Amino acid sequence: MRIADIQEEIDHELIPHERIMGRIQEVAAEVSRDYKERYPLLVGVLKGAVNVMVAFSQALSIPVEMDFMSLSSYGSGVRSQGEITVRQDLSTDVEGRDVLIVEDIIDSGLTLDWLKRELRRRGAASVEVFALLEKPERREVDVDVKYKGFEVPDVFVVGFGLDYAERFRNLDSIAVLKASVYEGEHA
Ligand code: XMP
Ligand code: MG
Repeated sequence: MRIADIQEEIDHELIPHERIMGRIQEVAAEVSRDYKERYPLLVGVLKGAVNVMVAFSQALSIPVEMDFMSLSSYGSGVRSQGEITVRQDLSTDVEGRDVLIVEDIIDSGLTLDWLKRELRRRGAASVEVFALLEKPERREVDVDVKYKGFEVPDVFVVGFGLDYAERFRNLDSIAVLKASVYEGEHA
């Protein structure tokens, strides 16, 4: 789905598809160099990271393993609920593995901080992060993100995996919704 298909709901496009793919390609080249001969485990955080995982993993020039985890930190609204719980766990034993977490967006950093600790607790040899987007203004915890796609301002964004009430995940770019889309929501 493209911006033109849902024009009446979009305020403006923030990052076009081509720029997203170009940046993912650059990060993938860097990661391919850094993890040469290490066979990393990519851990995608459901559901938002699915689109990033597909584009990123295909852009890598090294073999990787992939697994997914579902964590709850946000409901259907736009604000953090603070507590993190595992909705669906990995099926892979991370002990001794070089893990690269793949995330759609780092907001407060709480989800990521929790996940990094958890994977280390399970015995991962290393834990690094690739986040497509980052909202620096919203950071609450100092968590290291080695690979970053783009910085975005403190606005709610959708597309390329990111949703508003489960919608817009299949938009091929990153965009800001019109305020009217949120009307009636008390997030
Ligand atoms: P924290 O605050 O733990 O949150 O870093 C990360 C998770 O929050 C969600 N999130 C967003 N989802 N548009 C979205 O669709 C946004 O602008 C946004 N900001 C945060 C997202 O699930 C991310 O993994
Ligand atoms: Mg997420």
